[in-house]
Amino acid sequence: MPSVKRVREDHEDEVDSNIFGGHESARSQLTEPLVYQGTLDRFKHQDLTPAIGREYEGLQVTDLLKWGDEMIRDLAVTISERGVVFLRDQDVTPTQMKDLMLRITELSGSPSSSGLHVHPLTEEGSELGDQISVISSSKQAKGGGLTHQQSDASRLASAGWHTDISFEPVPSDYAMLKIHTLPPTGGDTLWASGYEIYNRLSPAMQEFLQTLTATHDASFFHDEARRLGNPIRSGIRGNPLNQGTTLKATHPVVRTNPVTHKKSLYVNKAFTKRLHPLSFDESSLLLPYLTSLVPNSHDAHVRFKWRANDLAIWDNRCTWHCATYDYGGEARTGDRVCSLGEAPFLRRGE
Ligand SMILES: [Fe+2]
Repeated sequence: MPSVKRVREDHEDEVDSNIFGGHESARSQLTEPLVYQGTLDRFKHQDLTPAIGREYEGLQVTDLLKWGDEMIRDLAVTISERGVVFLRDQDVTPTQMKDLMLRITELSGSPSSSGLHVHPLTEEGSELGDQISVISSSKQAKGGGLTHQQSDASRLASAGWHTDISFEPVPSDYAMLKIHTLPPTGGDTLWASGYEIYNRLSPAMQEFLQTLTATHDASFFHDEARRLGNPIRSGIRGNPLNQGTTLKATHPVVRTNPVTHKKSLYVNKAFTKRLHPLSFDESSLLLPYLTSLVPNSHDAHVRFKWRANDLAIWDNRCTWHCATYDYGGEARTGDRVCSLGEAPFLRRGE
């Protein structure tokens, strides 16, 4: 309903002292949370854990694309509330995935400067277009990805917990992944709720973390690019603020999701390197504690066992996820699309 999506007007552009972080050319167009209108209630669904995840059966992306904005906006609200939504058994092409991704992000108030992300490691002229990342076991074996399999680094499965592309000044709001080729068993994906883990911190710690920012850094992609033989994509990667080869950004440690107005912890093991304005030693003590909350809180997780052609859509502002590489040399392949939202901000005092 348009009434619940009040769009920011020109006279509201002055700096709001309650807003921490963000960038004026990449602000959310929402000033109030979006309210779910009930249009998806008639589809069979279940919440997979109390903290995170909802699964739908019988809801097809191709129908959603026909049925219109209200249902797609309700889907966006559901994803932002539940963290991740699973749509079983989809007959959907990569182009239809991109269409749905764009409508989800636009209908949930993404800034007009943001579109679909082009990953810095995406090969120029790739088969499915720049905005589709092919997730495959063969590419993983060659490059190593977030688990740094080719580097002298941790081999623990928990080393892979991350939120997508937080090294970009304008990171992802939503992302979707469809897996079409699966091993006989294994290859599950885990998600964790950033709302839940933030809410469990003491009020004193919550208040302190609201004063901090963090540097997110994906410099290790330069090594990965050399191994894969692709140069880093240095042009605009979905928003004019995301370009060049630095692959670093600074964001608030606690982030407000503009769709729900809920706060989430926004640091992750894969990309977050330094807390500010703390000293090096203070940051070195606190950051590992914060990132350890994610693998240690399995009551804030959902672990999804894929069937062929299942589609997951998640909100990267309020979740982390982690792949499971337990299937040896078996093939596991899928397509991923990632949209960009607002530059991260914190709305204090709510
Ligand atoms: Fe990811």
